[in-house]
Amino acid sequence: MNHPFSEEVKKVRQNEYAIQPLIINRWSPRSMTGEEMTEAELMPLFEAARWAPSSYNNQPWRFLYARKNTPSWPLFFDLMIDFNKGWTKNASALALIISAKNFEHNNKPSKTHSFDTGAAWMALALEGASRGLVIHGMEGFDFEKARSSLEIPEDYQIEALIAIGKRAPLDKLPEELQKRELPSSRKAIDDFAFEGKFLKRGKVKVA
Ligand SMILES: Cc1cc2nc3c(=O)[nH]c(=O)nc-3n(C[C@H](O)[C@H](O)[C@H](O)COP(=O)(O)O)c2cc1C
Repeated sequence: MNHPFSEEVKKVRQNEYAIQPLIINRWSPRSMTGEEMTEAELMPLFEAARWAPSSYNNQPWRFLYARKNTPSWPLFFDLMIDFNKGWTKNASALALIISAKNFEHNNKPSKTHSFDTGAAWMALALEGASRGLVIHGMEGFDFEKARSSLEIPEDYQIEALIAIGKRAPLDKLPEELQKRELPSSRKAIDDFAFEGKFLKRGKVKVA
């Protein structure tokens, strides 16, 4: 183990087995300072994404990003639902994650392009968490508008938008979000890992 569980996750998250603390320490805060971020601060996150595994090493992930106070920022910011605009106004960058539906080597459909791109996003999220940054995934945005505003071709799937920022105290958040600024827990391993045939379990959602 290279570093211990952080104080904030220790209060809420209990692991059933010992694993790398970085995995449990990652969570999705919303409170950010609103500061700008340099390319030099952002690029290591994409470096982490770069090393994700993918089918045929096709690397189908693409990240379109906008830094705060640049001409691209409004193009990305305007895609979000109001709830997400409420806290991402203090992000340093927004990145849209898309994936190439077809393999580069033969242009045939890939069955796992989203899965591969999910691995890349997780690598980025873990690197960000280890740097003390906020990396927060979002589904709450207009996927169709993203395609048209950012001129994304049909052979790329829009996966998710992420907010990237520097962590801030709670007072940077609207009041109703301050009480939700906590790591969440998870289902038990028994609810999602089955030896042998499929078992219908996991109905109890853990907040
Ligand atoms: C693909 C994806 C979409 C999400 N969409 C939103 C969103 O639109 N707004 C939001 O505030 N949080 C969003 N979240 C954050 C999740 O609610 C959060 O990851 C989940 O509750 C687990 O908590 P944790 O990331 O802190 O461990 C999203 C997360 C992912 C991975």
